[in-house]
Amino acid sequence: MRIRALLASAAICSLLVSALPAMAQASDPLAATGRWSIPERSQARTPPMGWNSWNAFRTEVDEAKVLGAARAMVDSGLSALGYTYVNIDDGWWLRRRQSDGRMEIRTGIFPSAHVEGRDSSFRPFTDTLHGMGLKAGIYTDIGRNACSQAYDLHSPNLPEGTTAEREVGLHGHVDQDIGLYFGEWGFDYVKVDACGINVYGPANPIVAQYAYTPETPLIDQVSINRTDVPAVQALYGEVADALARHNPDGDYILAICNWGSADVRTWGKNVGHMWRTSGDITPTWTRMLHNFDSASTRALYAKPGAWNDPDILFVGHGDFDQNHLTEARSHFALWAMINAPLLISYDLRQAPQSLMDIWGNADIVRLNQDPGGHQAVIAYASDDVQILVKTLSNGKKAVALFNRGLAETEVTLTAAQLKLAGGAPIALKNLWDKTTATFTGETKFTLTPRETLVFEASGERTLSDGVYLSEIPGAVNVAVDGVIAPEPDPVVHRMRNAWGETTGSGERPTYTGWGGAQADATPYDQALRIGGQGFESGLGVLTNSRLEVRNEGYTRFEAQVGVDDSTRNTKDAVRFAVYGDGRLLSESAPMIFGTAPAALSADVSGVRIVEIVARSEGLTSDLPLVVTWGDAALKR
Ligand code: GLA
Repeated sequence: MRIRALLASAAICSLLVSALPAMAQASDPLAATGRWSIPERSQARTPPMGWNSWNAFRTEVDEAKVLGAARAMVDSGLSALGYTYVNIDDGWWLRRRQSDGRMEIRTGIFPSAHVEGRDSSFRPFTDTLHGMGLKAGIYTDIGRNACSQAYDLHSPNLPEGTTAEREVGLHGHVDQDIGLYFGEWGFDYVKVDACGINVYGPANPIVAQYAYTPETPLIDQVSINRTDVPAVQALYGEVADALARHNPDGDYILAICNWGSADVRTWGKNVGHMWRTSGDITPTWTRMLHNFDSASTRALYAKPGAWNDPDILFVGHGDFDQNHLTEARSHFALWAMINAPLLISYDLRQAPQSLMDIWGNADIVRLNQDPGGHQAVIAYASDDVQILVKTLSNGKKAVALFNRGLAETEVTLTAAQLKLAGGAPIALKNLWDKTTATFTGETKFTLTPRETLVFEASGERTLSDGVYLSEIPGAVNVAVDGVIAPEPDPVVHRMRNAWGETTGSGERPTYTGWGGAQADATPYDQALRIGGQGFESGLGVLTNSRLEVRNEGYTRFEAQVGVDDSTRNTKDAVRFAVYGDGRLLSESAPMIFGTAPAALSADVSGVRIVEIVARSEGLTSDLPLVVTWGDAALKR
């Protein structure tokens, strides 16, 4: 923990991995390590699936509702499809006992937690879930107080008692609480919220009104410069360490919930199994777009054991209820395509079949749970229509055609967008209505307003003897992305928010990520292009970056490299290097803006981890130097 904090304060937080290798790299973050720097995790190898109480019940959760959902998941076959985690969210706690700091459960709503003459315990509850073949999740906060204590002030289920008794978050109790939740109570999953380090500042009137301990916020949701990124990261790192200590079998999930703040995009994958990429979803179409956009542009940051989390599903409510099945199907399919965790939040004791059919679409669940773990990459984007393509481990593609707007729209899908050969037939299977079709070159569809068509596509691969790195984001880890000053990512739908009406001037983009590595685009969302030559495939990144690539049996790495035509820094030079298990295999000459792409290749036979490094030479400008690994591929 001390080492983590030190490293973080040395402003090399993007490197945070396990302590020792990170120390070895501290002198040169671009030095090849020959290893995959995300901890090997046994859980969440595919996006976690299950149920969460929040969107359905907010703090009015109780045992009958949770176990009713669990029973319905088993009886309906949803659990057999992979919906396994049953997670209670905010509202379960009564108080923190002051004699020994032990958390007490609100047994009025969780009756099985009342054990005569003994401390309250969730063990009977988790035993019940485990007995049903399910897993159990709990909720806490990284600070002293939770979100409901600021935002659900009329809730009947807020913690009770003195200031200290109502401090139910992890602050000062990380090891004790994690030991209790996992060791004694038997939970398998914890969501760790962040209101305690965000909303209880001395200036917030509720602090005096409700006698909370004032805490200077570590997170300022609208200003990365006023957010203490290393401190936030260190706190979550402490939880990760406690979880590892109390779960020697590795059977746990850490869901980081700090709403895309504190540059979590960069470090979330090193610390937890999933991290929220945005503020809370609401049951409105345009907020769904916002949350979707916060994760859909970050394909290279998700992989087995580490997922972008655009929030719990809102299928069944509001714009996604049983009267809006087009919207509900779109929401679900989009989450599936981008490898989002699939957490249902609906009263499953009384769910209409039309909604059960959405969560229960086995074909769509299967594409989310594909073992390759490759998040869909955006193949075509406009504000009206998007096409997303996801590589499946059987060599096929999943493709979603997404009509974001309210007009009927014609969409052309091309073989090139699928990275399939244009001259050979491509078979499509519609994963909603199960119809099939074949096309060559391109094909057209008419999408109704807000409709998302999802297909499985198979054909001849464009790259017949290998795979483009942009097709396999789950096998690429952005170890160092070269971003110097984190900037809000503007490519996020700006909805009219549900909280502020249209008062004020509107919500600005605040989730940093702009400048991060991209598949098939530059870090600033331009088309890849070197010296006037465009690339449909490739990785776009800033200089002074290092990407790790898992190699499963390929023998050659090949790319066309150079400074991207979109760079703002048109003066400085960059050298591209390829390493195999830590050894330098191949290196380019220094390259500058305007020169033609250079071919770079390396023999990677027997290599497990390929590292590709773009290092600037004697920087003279502090403008970002954008580089492109054009057509970067692993070949047989
Ligand atoms: C925050 C989280 C939500 C939910 C509530 C509970 O808003 O982002 O997902 O957990 O807190 O109060």
